[in-house]
Amino acid sequence: MDAKALQALLETALSAVDTATDLASLESVRVAYLGKKGQLTAHLKSLGGLDPDARRALGASINQVKTQLVEALNTKEQAFRAAALAEALEHDRVDVTLPGRSAPVGGQHPVSRTLDRIIDLFTRLGFQTATGPEIETDYYNFEALNFPAHHPARAMHDTFYLPDGRLLRTHTSPVQIRVLENQAPPVRIIAPGRVFRADSDQTHTPQFHQVEGLVVDRGITFADLKGLLSEFVNAFFEQDLEIRLRPSYFPFTEPSAEVDVRWHDQAGNPSGWLEVLGCGMVHPNVLKHCQVDPEIYSGYAFGLGVERFAMLRYQVNDLRLFYDNDLRFLAQFR
Ligand code: PHE
Repeated sequence: MDAKALQALLETALSAVDTATDLASLESVRVAYLGKKGQLTAHLKSLGGLDPDARRALGASINQVKTQLVEALNTKEQAFRAAALAEALEHDRVDVTLPGRSAPVGGQHPVSRTLDRIIDLFTRLGFQTATGPEIETDYYNFEALNFPAHHPARAMHDTFYLPDGRLLRTHTSPVQIRVLENQAPPVRIIAPGRVFRADSDQTHTPQFHQVEGLVVDRGITFADLKGLLSEFVNAFFEQDLEIRLRPSYFPFTEPSAEVDVRWHDQAGNPSGWLEVLGCGMVHPNVLKHCQVDPEIYSGYAFGLGVERFAMLRYQVNDLRLFYDNDLRFLAQFR
């Protein structure tokens, strides 16, 4: 092989490198010239048959050609790799300026929030919290509260009865009895909890919440009750809402009253009255049932409907919305 042929081989090889379109075709060029059976490799092997001078001269030329070819291959390979990287960067780009994926934050149910708010306000008015069972006996739910058997007021309660004669409490008033049985006056408690009545319309659900209040001490009067209630209502609504006390009847209080709050429509104009509370002076028979002497002690009691307060505070006009569990509704109260 002479220098000219070697030069021609180099040129063909370089143009093959030049026309290679990707890493694979470039690799076949490398194999064709520098692989075990490649053309340049074959020439290097054939050097053994030459005399020393010729071998040295041709060997040096072949190695020179080889170096050039390797260099050309490397340059081209780097170009391919750089292009591949640039393309990958373009395609798989992460846009760090995009907003992150947020995990939705839940919120407290509007009825729970209202309940907490009511408890908090009464706590600040010096009330302690008492509880009682949701499944009650006839004695605590009615009898001890001065509803004798067959008393017509029982029918107003739409009671859910259990097969064994017990019942789902229809109000939180049985907690009055449970507290008075266990604690001598002075008593100043609230009893928040779930109550049940077979009743459902725009302002009634079969399950709802009440907060009972009971104060028993010497010299408690109706004026104390009225003062406490207006204090509470104003604090709860953070405004002077119009309230009215209507004479009413409960077997366990005498005299009794119902408290209505004037509510406002969407436009802020006063519309109807909503009954939010029942109250009265503890009936002497109730005190007697609990071994409290009505000649020495008197007291007042009240029971308020938590959902009613929530409706007024959040301007919700259908109580059933609180229990539909529609997240579009609930998410407004976060
Ligand atoms: N327990 C009565 C009711 O559920 C409310 C009430 C409580 C009335 C305490 C007077 C005193 O309707």
